[in-house]
Amino acid sequence: MATIFSGVQPSGFPTLGNYLGALKHFVTYQEEHDCYFCVVNQHAITVPQDKLELRDNTRKLAALYLAIGIDPKKSTIFIQSEVPAHTKMGWIMQCISYIGELERMTQFKDKAQNRVAVSSGLLTYPPLMAADILLYGTNIVPVGDDQKQHLELTRDLAERFNKQYNDIFTIPDVHIPKVGARIMDLGEPTKKMSKSAENSNGYISMLDDEKTILKKIKRATTDSEAKVKYDKENKPGVANLLTIYSLCSGKSIEELEAEYEGKGYGDFKEGVADAVISQLKPIQERYYELLASEELDAILDKGAEKAGSVANKMLAKAERAMGLERKKRKK
Ligand code: AMP
Ligand code: TRP
Repeated sequence: MATIFSGVQPSGFPTLGNYLGALKHFVTYQEEHDCYFCVVNQHAITVPQDKLELRDNTRKLAALYLAIGIDPKKSTIFIQSEVPAHTKMGWIMQCISYIGELERMTQFKDKAQNRVAVSSGLLTYPPLMAADILLYGTNIVPVGDDQKQHLELTRDLAERFNKQYNDIFTIPDVHIPKVGARIMDLGEPTKKMSKSAENSNGYISMLDDEKTILKKIKRATTDSEAKVKYDKENKPGVANLLTIYSLCSGKSIEELEAEYEGKGYGDFKEGVADAVISQLKPIQERYYELLASEELDAILDKGAEKAGSVANKMLAKAERAMGLERKKRKK
């Protein structure tokens, strides 16, 4: 049995990209492994958030975790800020990371680029992410492609700590899906689909209704060739839609290419929209039920308690290894 950890930020509501690249895979681990799924609200505040929206989005994301099939009897679901060990270990990780390596993170460079004031949290976010992962002795971290670099840093920090202080951390492996690790923006298919995109036509929110999904897919950028073929270089829009279609329908890309041979993009896009709707609709129904129930708070209270007791043990080991304790331990 391995330990699995992953997290999603409650900034906005997850998109189809988050689902196909990360969330959908979470449930596949819980039958056989010890899983922790965290709503990483302290990561979200590295950029300004509206306080009421952040509070709402935190609960909503937890409800979504349950709606996609994460079972609280099998997995631990919790909110990052409710387990103080994360920021304590985050500080330790900051102290062993170098400014240079943090400045090299592409996500930092991207996010810092368009801002007048860049918070220091935006720079030191990867050490907090390393803390999230290392606190649980995590073996596997399922994420989308954009988190690969942060995972490499996590491994480096774990190795550095183990060497300098004491060999306490498990070195985690990253699991990135072979297909769907980077779902692209519908309007600009060379950019990744993101919930913080300015134009909401570029992404499908997991809560979009049928009409909106159909409208957004109909508008998606394609090309003038009118041929349903997977060619990421020359036909990035069609390739992206084929990836989405395949993941939502279970049919292979080759099957879909054959099915739409000789047909235009109109038919194809309707097929894509139907597949997305049939994937999201049952999730949405469960989501609205859960959000209104009291069950959610009880699950999160229990999740924080369980996560806290595991995390505190690792935190104590790390603090001891660094001399962050007052009394000598009896042998
Ligand atoms: P975030 O919304 O940044 O907290 O991301 C949550 C998870 O979704 C991470 O594992 C990301 O790698 C993954 N993810 C985000 N955007 C995409 C995308 N466009 N395609 C695939 N996976 C994504
Ligand atoms: N940085 C991740 C993202 O933006 C979210 C995250 C925070 C995470 N801590 C994590 C993902 C730990 C996996 C494991 O998507």
